[in-house]
Amino acid sequence: MSDFNVVCSCLNVEKDELIEEIKSNNLKTVDDVADETGAGTGCGSCRCTIQEILDDVK
Ligand code: FES
Repeated sequence: MSDFNVVCSCLNVEKDELIEEIKSNNLKTVDDVADETGAGTGCGSCRCTIQEILDDVK
């Protein structure tokens, strides 16, 4: 499970990094996260996971 922490493999964005960005920039939507980090701007398959992380952080 060494790749477990990578949420977006297209852009190689890790979960910890996403949580940091969500908290420090008060991101609310998957599009906010995509604009800020690039995660979700490739194939799009990670967008559900990004939403779950947003729900967790709220
Ligand atoms: S895995 Fe995130 S856009 Fe493809």
